[in-house]
Amino acid sequence: MSIDITTATVADAAALAACAAVTFPLACPPDSPPEEIQRHIETQLSEERFAEVLARPGHTVLCIREGHRVAGWSMVVLDPPSDADVLAALSLTPTAELSKFYVHPDLHGSGSSSALMTATLQHAAGSGLPGIWLGVNQENARALRFYGKHGFGVVGTKRFQLGDRFEDDFIMEQALPAVATAV
Ligand SMILES: CC(C)(COP(=O)(O)OP(=O)(O)OC[C@H]1O[C@@H](n2cnc3c(N)ncnc32)[C@H](O)[C@@H]1OP(=O)(O)O)[C@@H](O)C(=O)NCCC(=O)NCCS
Repeated sequence: MSIDITTATVADAAALAACAAVTFPLACPPDSPPEEIQRHIETQLSEERFAEVLARPGHTVLCIREGHRVAGWSMVVLDPPSDADVLAALSLTPTAELSKFYVHPDLHGSGSSSALMTATLQHAAGSGLPGIWLGVNQENARALRFYGKHGFGVVGTKRFQLGDRFEDDFIMEQALPAVATAV
């Protein structure tokens, strides 16, 4: 079965918000307060917020599409990192950030997440930057295994704020292949 993966536009903001509301809680540690998770969804992952982010230069969202539904999404950001822990940990600069990577639980283990990762890394390599990094919660064993399978290695740690709590993340990075340019 072919997997439909394309770049999102502002018209996808509502479908992205619907997918994000289901998938964001899956990335949080089990003891995260539900009200903080809900607040993050409402403030950071709303339709309005997606519409705003999709219009920003250097921000690309790729979607797994199933008809009108978005069943998974990734976001690559080309802005340089500002977090001191990230800057200290990375060895490949300048770098792209794999800022978001979420797939609907209906598709976990199906190969769709791998297809989205392949498309995402291809997109990032097209930027010409030598590296890509991400942050992932240290308790998210499934994501850690998945990122490891796709070439990322742990290079450091940082903290992620959810409400008034700080969660511990691993910083992972990998080299991007040089893209041939026409002569
Ligand atoms: C992370 C995510 C994208 C991975 O996609 P997926 O389709 O589940 O990934 P895959 O099934 O291809 O790979 C997961 C691997 O983790 C393994 N795994 C599953 N549960 C695990 C656990 N509790 N501990 C360790 N490994 C685990 C699987 O066996 C598989 O490894 P294998 O291929 O060697 O058998 C997806 O699970 C997801 O969207 N999760 C919710 C959102 C999230 O956490 N996003 C990451 C935020 S940084």
